[in-house]
Amino acid sequence: MEVLLSAETIQSRVRELAEEIERDYEPDAAIHLVGVLKGGFVFMADLVRAMGPRVTLDFIAVSSYAKSTKSSGEVRLLKDLDSGLEGRHVIIVEDIVDTGLTLTYLQDILRARSPKSLRTACLLSKPSRRLVDVVVEYIGFTIEDRFVVGYGLDYAEQYRNLAHIAVLDGD
Ligand code: IMP
Ligand code: MG
Repeated sequence: MEVLLSAETIQSRVRELAEEIERDYEPDAAIHLVGVLKGGFVFMADLVRAMGPRVTLDFIAVSSYAKSTKSSGEVRLLKDLDSGLEGRHVIIVEDIVDTGLTLTYLQDILRARSPKSLRTACLLSKPSRRLVDVVVEYIGFTIEDRFVVGYGLDYAEQYRNLAHIAVLDGD
């Protein structure tokens, strides 16, 4: 498989994103990260380790692609958060924004829980595939319309453990 982003490239970009996030919030403000399972788990793990002690985290799970490289367009909540978001600075941490449907759904349901602020961080963005306008404040890399795996991203549950991001050809 063709390597699109090496492990080193990803690591240095994640450190930059962590610094950017830390700079954007008041120094004494707590930051609560909401990781989107399963794809967001590797990005989340590296992002929080590049941040200071004020960060806390939780996970939410939604259905995304089944065994396909095409989106079904349907989003379902599979696992909810353990704690509430009221009055907290919340950042959604997701692997990739593709059509934007998943993030639109997540932003809507999390905003309804009255966080003090709500932002989104995505490692990858494929703007050419967008079906809905969605605001993502922190983007690691903008990529072309190719199906990618690794660093949390899967194809039929495979390749999540790659340290780099590779292009999977053929769908
Ligand atoms: P969206 O709702 O179309 O924006 O899709 C978001 C979800 O689709 C992500 O959380 C991924 O799980 C999945 N996805 C989109 N593009 C890719 C890809 O290139 N490789 C692996 N998963 C992808
Ligand atoms: Mg997936």
